[in-house]
Amino acid sequence: MNKRRPLIAGNWKMNGLAADGAALAKAVADKARAGAPPCELLVCPPFTLIDRAIAAVKGSPVAVGGQDCHAAVSGAHTGDVAAEMLKDLGCAYVIVGHSERRADHGETDAVVKAKAEAALRAGLVAIVCVGETEAERDAGRTEAVVARQVKGSLPAGATPANLVVAYEPVWAIGTGRTPTPADAQAVHARIRAELKDLIGEAADAVRLLYGGSVKPSNAKELMAQADIDGALVGGAALKAEDFWGIVQAYA
Ligand code: PGA
Repeated sequence: MNKRRPLIAGNWKMNGLAADGAALAKAVADKARAGAPPCELLVCPPFTLIDRAIAAVKGSPVAVGGQDCHAAVSGAHTGDVAAEMLKDLGCAYVIVGHSERRADHGETDAVVKAKAEAALRAGLVAIVCVGETEAERDAGRTEAVVARQVKGSLPAGATPANLVVAYEPVWAIGTGRTPTPADAQAVHARIRAELKDLIGEAADAVRLLYGGSVKPSNAKELMAQADIDGALVGGAALKAEDFWGIVQAYA
């Protein structure tokens, strides 16, 4: 029962000044305009580049998202950005609970859940990230950790239209290492089973992305797995050619 439209999402992280960001977004949008993309496309620039990215992708099938949001609508939260602010700029998505935020900012499952609920409240699609550390994998705890994160981070009111889950093993991010496609598939299947417990049969229609060292040369076999519905791409999303090479996994 796979009616899921794949999503290839670029997570630019803390990279790019004004000119770079506009040029990268434009390069991706130009390829998408020329090439009838075989999947949904998303770029998630740093907050400072979102406005420019939105201008650059206008009239193309490329969507723009944020990399994080605060749980509150507004208020005394210096340095934070509300989901409503992202929506107001024209964002369609926001990533929440990326492992770099869980690690650098101490974000717990409860914090991630509150952020995901803020995304839904604002009318954004939440991309909720989960993934085990290398120590957890070595201890044979991968599926238990990921299941706990899914259960703890899932927003109330999640549906296939407002939720995407990204499985990103921490040890695979930015390292050039990836799980085997079969290992990644096994975790995705576990995530879908967990989602089924939480939201019922609708879980079959929720898109599950794989992230962690995805590049053009490994995208096709990862994306071919039954429960992998796209990719969350970091480093390779910073070059339009590489990002487009990953999109070709679905061509
Ligand atoms: P990477 O990052 O593709 O550079 O490994 C993925 C991510 O952290 O989203």
